[in-house]
Amino acid sequence: MGKISNIIRGVVSIAVIWLAASCAPGQAVEADYNVIPLPHSVRSSGSDPFRMSASTTVVAVDSAQVVNAELFAEYIKTLTGFRLKITDRMPSENYIRLAASNEDAAPESYRITVASDSIVVEGADAAGTFYGLQTLRKAIRGGRGDDVLYPAAVIEDGPRFSYRGGHLDCVRHFFPADSVKTYIDILALHNINRFHWHLTDDQGWRIEIRSLPELTKKGSVRSGTIIGNSGQYDSVPYGGYYTQTELRDIVAYAADRHITVIPEIDLPGHMVAALTSYPSLGCTGGPYEVYRRWGVTDDILCAGNDSVYVFLDKVFDEVADVFPSELIHIGGDEVPHGKWEKCPRCQAKIKELGLKDDARSTAVQKLQNHIMKHVSDRLAAKGRRVIGWDELIDNGFDTTAVIMSWRSPQDGGQDGAAFGYKTVRVPNTHLYFDYQYAEGDTIGAPYWRKIPLDSVYAYNPIPKCFTAEQAANVIGVQGNVWTEFIPSFREVQYMALPRMAALAELQWCDSPKDYEAFLVRLKYFLNLYEEEGYNYRPLD
Ligand code: ACM
Ligand code: ZN
Repeated sequence: MGKISNIIRGVVSIAVIWLAASCAPGQAVEADYNVIPLPHSVRSSGSDPFRMSASTTVVAVDSAQVVNAELFAEYIKTLTGFRLKITDRMPSENYIRLAASNEDAAPESYRITVASDSIVVEGADAAGTFYGLQTLRKAIRGGRGDDVLYPAAVIEDGPRFSYRGGHLDCVRHFFPADSVKTYIDILALHNINRFHWHLTDDQGWRIEIRSLPELTKKGSVRSGTIIGNSGQYDSVPYGGYYTQTELRDIVAYAADRHITVIPEIDLPGHMVAALTSYPSLGCTGGPYEVYRRWGVTDDILCAGNDSVYVFLDKVFDEVADVFPSELIHIGGDEVPHGKWEKCPRCQAKIKELGLKDDARSTAVQKLQNHIMKHVSDRLAAKGRRVIGWDELIDNGFDTTAVIMSWRSPQDGGQDGAAFGYKTVRVPNTHLYFDYQYAEGDTIGAPYWRKIPLDSVYAYNPIPKCFTAEQAANVIGVQGNVWTEFIPSFREVQYMALPRMAALAELQWCDSPKDYEAFLVRLKYFLNLYEEEGYNYRPLD
C-alpha cells in the first residue's frame, strides 16, 4: 500500500511540475520574419520586442478587418493555444491594430510596424492586411502555450504577380466541400489569391446546373475506374458533385481569405460526362458513357449543332451567377477534331462561316475558336473575361482571352506573353504537382517526368530575352494538381506540399532567389504544416 501511494504521489508531482512548466507565465518564444514567402524588406528598429500573450487585443474597426482579425485569432490559437480578444476600441497598449489605410501602395501590399507596446498592420487594402497577418502568423516558430516576442521592426512587403494560382482537379477524383475548404486554407497559407477549380471533364460533371439536371443525375457518376494504367477496371460506381449552395458557400469561404474562385468548364473536348447526360450534344448522338479511364477521347461537343450553343448559354449563365470571378475558365485543351472532320453538321457550319485553313489555324481549329468565342461573348456581356489553355492561341482566339500556358515549346506550346496575350504560367515541366517528386515515389502520376522541389524553385516565369512589354504580359504563375493518380485528399496534400511553398516564392518574391536559404526557411515552415495537420512530403 505504501509503495502504491508513493508511486501515486510521484505521478502527481510529475504532473504538477509538467503543468507548471507548460502554463508558466513569462515563457516566451522569439518570432522570426524569415518566412515563406520571404518579405521584401525587414528593417530592425532596435527597440524592445512586442510581447503577444493571451491578454493582447486585436483592434479591428471595419467588417473586412474583423474577418481578418477572426482568422488571425484562429491561426494564433492553433499555434499558441491562447485566443486573442478582438475589439473595435483602441487600448492604450498591448494591441495589434489592423488597418487598410495605405491606399497609395500597390494592391495587396502591407506595412507592419512592430514597437514594444503595439503592432500596426497597414494594408493597401484588406487583402494586404491579411498578408501582413499571415507574416505575423508564420513568424511563430513553435512554443505552444508560450507568449511570442516579435522583434521591433518595420516590414514592407507586396507581391510580384497579381495572379497567384493554385488548381485542383475534383473530377478524376472527387473531394467533398470540407476538403476543398481545407485546400483553400492551404492556398491562403501560401499567399495564393486564385483557386482554379477544375469541375467538369470526361470522367464526371461536378457542378450542379439547375436548368440541366441530367448533368449531375447521370454525368456525375462513372460505373467504375481504371486500376492504375493496367487496362483493368473496378466496377465500383464513383461520383459526386457540388450543389450550388455548397459552391456559393465555398466562394464566400475563399473570399474571406482573399481568394477568388475561378471555375473551369472545359470545352469543347473533355465533355463525355455532358454527352452521356445529353447524347444529342455530340456529333454522332452516342451512346456515350462517363469515361472510366484517363487520357483524351475523340468524342467532343458538336460545333454544328445549334442546341450545343443553347446548352452552353444555360451552363455559363448559371456559372456566372454562382461565381463572381471576372475570369471564367473555358478550357480548350486537347481537342481531337476527327469527329468534326466527318460530321455533316460541323462541315456545314464550317462552310456557313467561310472557315478556311491558313498559316495559323486549320478550318476545324477555327471552328473550335467559333464555339469558344460564342461563350466568351456571352460572358463578356456580363462583364466577365475568359481564360483558357494555350491551345486557344493555335485556334486564333484574339488577345481578349487570358492564356493559361501549360505546354512547353517542345510540346507545341506557344508563348502567349510574347504575342500580346495576358498570360498565366503553369508549365507541365515545373508546376504540375501531380507528377511525382522523384524516382521510386509511390504517390502521384508515375508515367511522366519527375518534378523535384528544386526544379519548382528554379523555374523562371519571365525569359531573360523578354522586352518590358512582354514581361508585363505575364500576370501570374500557378501550380496544378490533376488527380488521375491521386485518389485521396491526404495524397493531394502530399503532392502539393512542400512544392507549393516553392511556388509561393515564385509568385510573391522578386527573382533571383537563393535555394539554400529557402530550404532553411522551409524547415521552420514545415512546423506550420504539422501544427495545421497537413500531410506533406518530408525533405530528402
Ligand atoms: C492540361 O494539362 N491538359 C491542361
Ligand atoms: Zn458535329
